[in-house]
Amino acid sequence: MDKFVIRGGEPLLGTVHISGAKNAALPCMAAALLTDQPVILENIPQVRDIQTTRNLLTAMGAEVELGYGRAHHRTTIHCANLTTPEASYELVKTMRASTLVLGPLVARCGRARVSLPGGCAIGARPIDLHIKGLEQLGAKIAQEHGYVEASATRLKGAHIVFDKITVTGTEDLLMAATLAEGETVLENCAREPEVADLAHLLNKMGAKIEGAGTPTIRVKGVSKLKGTKHRIIPDRIEAGTFLIAGAMTGGDLNVASCEPAHLEAVIHKLNAVGVKTKTNSDSVRVMGDNPFTASDLSTEEYPGFPTDCQAQFMVLATQAEGTSTITENIFENRFMHALELVRMGANIKIEGHRAVVRGKTPLSAAAVLASDLRASASLVLAALVADGETIIDRVYHIDRGYEHIEEKLKDVGAQIKRIGEMFPKKAVAAR
Ligand code: EPZ
Repeated sequence: MDKFVIRGGEPLLGTVHISGAKNAALPCMAAALLTDQPVILENIPQVRDIQTTRNLLTAMGAEVELGYGRAHHRTTIHCANLTTPEASYELVKTMRASTLVLGPLVARCGRARVSLPGGCAIGARPIDLHIKGLEQLGAKIAQEHGYVEASATRLKGAHIVFDKITVTGTEDLLMAATLAEGETVLENCAREPEVADLAHLLNKMGAKIEGAGTPTIRVKGVSKLKGTKHRIIPDRIEAGTFLIAGAMTGGDLNVASCEPAHLEAVIHKLNAVGVKTKTNSDSVRVMGDNPFTASDLSTEEYPGFPTDCQAQFMVLATQAEGTSTITENIFENRFMHALELVRMGANIKIEGHRAVVRGKTPLSAAAVLASDLRASASLVLAALVADGETIIDRVYHIDRGYEHIEEKLKDVGAQIKRIGEMFPKKAVAAR
């Protein structure tokens, strides 16, 4: 199992380039199930979840080419002959976003058998809203032996109001609705940029979608979708992670190849803490040369502060003068990182959905354990400012959603090395 060894104290200086958004690439790869023609996706990040999705699609009978190189990070997915519209427990348990194939499979094949994802480190993560929406579209649903079995001769348009805002729930049903008979109205939708990026791809495939990125999305069903080429948007969470890292280390970091418009809540919060930023068309420069002052934080659905940057912000809060109260409104158990940060010297008290952080506390290096994707990223940030050499175990969590994070950090001055080698440095095209 790979580990990171990080010696703290170096400011991050220079330019880091942001990869394509994992959380846009995953639904876009699932969307290829909706057509018998090839779909080409560019700017695909080289992360573990993409490999898992490739395995998921090939197990169904899809042909998936996945190539990484200087010129392109591209996948071509061709679902001409889907033999097994199923997502097995073995795959779903490693990546709950596999449930994104549910809607497309029912819409394209008339049936789907998808393992229930079960919980994960950050919460119960049910998919009841995905299932309820599919039933409203006319699918027959049975749940047994830990699987959801869905079937429909042809889905029929419906008026669906989500009880809660759900990102993949919106994406799952949006994809299902594109091939349904008649019009579907989805209300109380997630407004994340990844939803809009998926809708952009679907419309290029011939879907008729209006309103993606707003709470109400209208879909006019069509009988067939075609192949297309699409470039995935930059990863706003990776960008937010590096912005916070640049600030915390007292650096001067240019976060490039990103979409600043997707980062407004994060940039606003950094400014509130006293961090200087300068926004350009596709980059944000962060300068951490000021002392930080405490600021409260509440995670919200987009365009609010993203829950996926909460753990990273918590580390910054440990370096700010004063008391910051962090409220996690999206997931019920997303403070796993706090316990490890306390072991490094942070002063954090957890009270239900609230974490009270008292700073500024110097952090000292320790042997720590990664627990989930974003918690692991926060431990890397803590290690970058800790006194001494931190060892982070189980970094496969990080590899799920950050492309070559140790290379990117090394290139801007961090003292970090990986023990064990998951992706060879010069990756060859994976066949
Ligand atoms: C997406 O997860 C992201 N994953 C998550 O990113 C992100 O944290 C989350 O949205 C919130 O922004 C992908 O896009 C692949 P939700 P998702 O459905 O769709 C409850 C990362 O680090 N809910 O928006 O699974 C749910 O329990 C990952 O990259 C139901 O109750 O999240 C949660 O409390 C982690 N029933 C809330 O809604 C449902 O049917 C929001 O979850 C669905 C969700």
